[in-house]
Amino acid sequence: MAKRTYQTPRGTKDVLPDEQKHWDFVVDVVKEEAFNAGFRRIDTPIFEDSGLFVKSVGKNTDIVEKEMYTFKDKSGNSLTLRPEGTAPIIRAYLEGGMQSLPHPVNLFYIGSMFRYERPQAGRYRQFHQYGFETIGESNPVIDAQLIALSLRILRKLGLENLLLEINSLGCPSCRPKYRKLLVDYLSDYKKKLCTDCKQRLKTNPLRIFDCKQKSCQEIIASAPQLINYLCQSCHEHFRHVLEYLDDLELSYELNPRLARGLDYYTKTVWEIWPAKPLEGEELGSQAALGGGGRYDKLIELLGGRPTPALGFACGIERPIAMIKEEKIEIPEKRKTQVFIAQLGEKAQKICFKLLNELQDAGIAVVGSLEKKSIGSQFKEANRLKVPLTILVGQKEAFDGTVILKDMVSGSQEIIPQEKIVKVLLKRLES
Ligand code: HAM
Repeated sequence: MAKRTYQTPRGTKDVLPDEQKHWDFVVDVVKEEAFNAGFRRIDTPIFEDSGLFVKSVGKNTDIVEKEMYTFKDKSGNSLTLRPEGTAPIIRAYLEGGMQSLPHPVNLFYIGSMFRYERPQAGRYRQFHQYGFETIGESNPVIDAQLIALSLRILRKLGLENLLLEINSLGCPSCRPKYRKLLVDYLSDYKKKLCTDCKQRLKTNPLRIFDCKQKSCQEIIASAPQLINYLCQSCHEHFRHVLEYLDDLELSYELNPRLARGLDYYTKTVWEIWPAKPLEGEELGSQAALGGGGRYDKLIELLGGRPTPALGFACGIERPIAMIKEEKIEIPEKRKTQVFIAQLGEKAQKICFKLLNELQDAGIAVVGSLEKKSIGSQFKEANRLKVPLTILVGQKEAFDGTVILKDMVSGSQEIIPQEKIVKVLLKRLES
């Protein structure tokens, strides 16, 4: 036997059959809630022009500077595996003529994203997100509405122990003034900042808030807070968002240091965290379950008419880890309904045809078509927990009948082969 040579690339993982039910569960809940809230699905390519992310996420962000999977194709175009979904959605919104639709335009997506991060518990290089974007609404009630939706989906997944953190990042009228204040403050501590933050101080000082280094965190702890320097309009907007959250009795924690790592945000930003770290995670190295915010200037930046917008995305791997850790029962949706067992060459041929007829009729049926003892075939039927089993032995093959066994009561009856599809459909209906 040849040596096993290959394994999944670092930071990626297989979703093996046993875990698929978790994924189906998350995707089903997301689709259901999206439908209930009037969001329509959108899918964009897995790779995009690299410039799209540089321009929207920001040249001096960790994502663009360190984490993008960027490559040249054979024509020399620079392409990037999408590290996030918002920029592609806005590109598609503009390219797909959605500016002329009645607004708001409510879109949702589910798909894989790619970031070259240091893999650790809950952090992958290929991961998956579901995301929601509302384009064309500036009213703070919509911020609260999307925050409520982001929490509702996680709650429908059975996750109750959640922490909502919220902040406002201001707008182009108040942020530059604050930026100057921040630079003045940080300049006094320049020597103590890590190498990355020294650079950030020059290029993108707000990104220092994302730094995980303890020494930088200590400096940031006493830094001036943007929340205290918001312009009147941002201040009012934020106040209303919080009031609307109060109306829904959603509890939140103000986190004036929440900066979100992407440059396109304006005004409200939020993140949802597990109330306690997940297994295998160290405090401080955790990632949020999801996050989002307003990005009122992004559409203009990408060449559209000025249009306010906001949205959020949640990872899929992290909620699944939490579902497993909290031992949340996943509703079993699809089950094998019928097992076919057979004995003898003639019976095998009949069962082969029967299996296909039943599958054509839409019945979830599996069967053993190989030579196996009746005992091991029934063992398999029991393992699958099927309610009904069909058995064709040599006698039945000769008679043109099948034995239909009710696996719950143990009762058996003989049915003519040509009637079995009808009988099963009726039985399964009841
Ligand atoms: P983000 O905070 O970068 O936001 O990512 C959202 C979520 O994706 C995170 O909270 C986390 O659950 C998951 N995630 C991110 N990186 C990884 C990773 N390496 N491994 C596993 N999960 C990960 C965005 O992407 C924005 N586009 C959200 C948004 C939508 N803002 C407005 N609209």
